[in-house]
Amino acid sequence: MNQGYKFLVFEIFTAVFLMQTCGKMFDFHLLEDYRNATTQEEICRRLGYDGFAVLSTPEAFKYALRLSSHYRSGVRSGIYIGAHYQKQYNLSLWDDGTDPRSDTPFYSYPPDAKPGRPVARIDTQGKLTMGGDSTERPAICGNHNDYSTESVGTTMPAELETTSRAILSVSKLFSHLECAVFCGLTYECRLAEFNYDLLTCTLVGEYTPSATVYNPPVITFVRQAFDP
Ligand SMILES: *[C@@H]1O[C@H](CO)[C@@H](O)[C@H](O)[C@H]1NC(C)=O
Ligand SMILES: *[C@@H]1O[C@H](CO)[C@@H](O)[C@H](O)[C@H]1NC(C)=O
Repeated sequence: MNQGYKFLVFEIFTAVFLMQTCGKMFDFHLLEDYRNATTQEEICRRLGYDGFAVLSTPEAFKYALRLSSHYRSGVRSGIYIGAHYQKQYNLSLWDDGTDPRSDTPFYSYPPDAKPGRPVARIDTQGKLTMGGDSTERPAICGNHNDYSTESVGTTMPAELETTSRAILSVSKLFSHLECAVFCGLTYECRLAEFNYDLLTCTLVGEYTPSATVYNPPVITFVRQAFDP
């Protein structure tokens, strides 16, 4: 009965809604010259960045893919980004301390955690891998607490039923746009449900969709996925 609904695709710029957190879009900087990871990271810091760019969200990942498309192939392929093996946890983590989520396009989940594979890179396939730090490659610099103010996704006047989901938070908000923006600001968020009767915004992490239900007073924001 509801097939006629048109889904709205939109980009929200948080600056419009949340002036206090108003920042910039991703401030990533591509180092085109080939150098090993240690030297590239030093150069990033000298340029005023915290280090390599953290790609913990679909938005950041896609931005990095666009930025690096001409540089990912070649003899010493790949491009250094901001995730490192952390010996004290025996885990590979983003350089802002967050954990790569299960839908992040690393070849395995969790990503390889080995001292011999200390740093992450984007490879020619546009996938992420942990690897060595001595090969000379380009790199992307970024700031680690500089969350994007961009949420990209689709809204629909419906609820997605899921076979598995992790509720990240429930909060009071006034509009589905604010709810979508909040999702975009939360690196684990993949789906946000705004209930316009209760004025609640529920943020959901990775999920498996099973059906779409059109009756409830819910507007759902489905964040874009990592894959193209
Ligand atoms: C670190 O974790 C990996 C699995 O991700 C495991 O194979 C390895 O044995 C662990 N190493 C140490 C030192 O605990
Ligand atoms: C990286 O390059 C610098 C300068 O060439 C060198 O001093 C350093 O040992 C290299 N480090 C690695 C891990 O290859």
